[in-house]
Amino acid sequence: MSSITKLGILVSGRGSNMEAILKNIEDGKLDAKVVIVLSDNSDAPALKKAKKYGVDARYIHPGEKKTVLIGTAEQEYIKTLKEKEVDYVLLAGFMRVIKKAFIQAFPMKILNIHPALLPSFPGLKAQSQALNYGVKFSGCTVHFVTEDVDAGPIIIQSCVPVYDDDTEEILSFRILKEEHRIYTEAIKLITEHPFRIEGRRVIFGERRQNG
Ligand code: GRF
Repeated sequence: MSSITKLGILVSGRGSNMEAILKNIEDGKLDAKVVIVLSDNSDAPALKKAKKYGVDARYIHPGEKKTVLIGTAEQEYIKTLKEKEVDYVLLAGFMRVIKKAFIQAFPMKILNIHPALLPSFPGLKAQSQALNYGVKFSGCTVHFVTEDVDAGPIIIQSCVPVYDDDTEEILSFRILKEEHRIYTEAIKLITEHPFRIEGRRVIFGERRQNG
């Protein structure tokens, strides 16, 4: 019996990546259902946006630490996602590092989008890191989440040019347009195509015989 892919999305802020996914589902471009949106920020515009799409969207208190979920807070997030029977957890601008217990609850089932071509410019303010470094191309990456931050196996990337007169805002917008496209592509890739992970490589398609 084949059942539709159930997605849970974690957000902290504006939620444009989440909205792009919801829109693509609505437009029939992605065969999946967002069954829960969770936020560590009760004022996140993303929560309102999700509710407009009829999605169960909730704030869950993230605990006392600023950058991680731990203890009962972490368990509450895991429990809610399990109750909703999600197949994949998508981090979409979720501003906390996901730790071991969470990763072990959803092994190779958590995805993140990062606004740079990893492994370049991990961490915060990736777009300004790229601009200040002087690279001529940057982009975005969707990867599986592992315990090392922004370092899990890469599913898809997209490249954009960096122009001499770019500001952080202009470059971020150029990258964001690609983020909105490739997050859906990544979900399609892993849910509609066979793949295997060899070391750090996510390899799609059948194994070739004799090279
Ligand atoms: C995006 O740039 C994403 O790559 C990064 O945080 C930002 C979230 O934006 N992880 P939004 O909330 O999806 O609009």
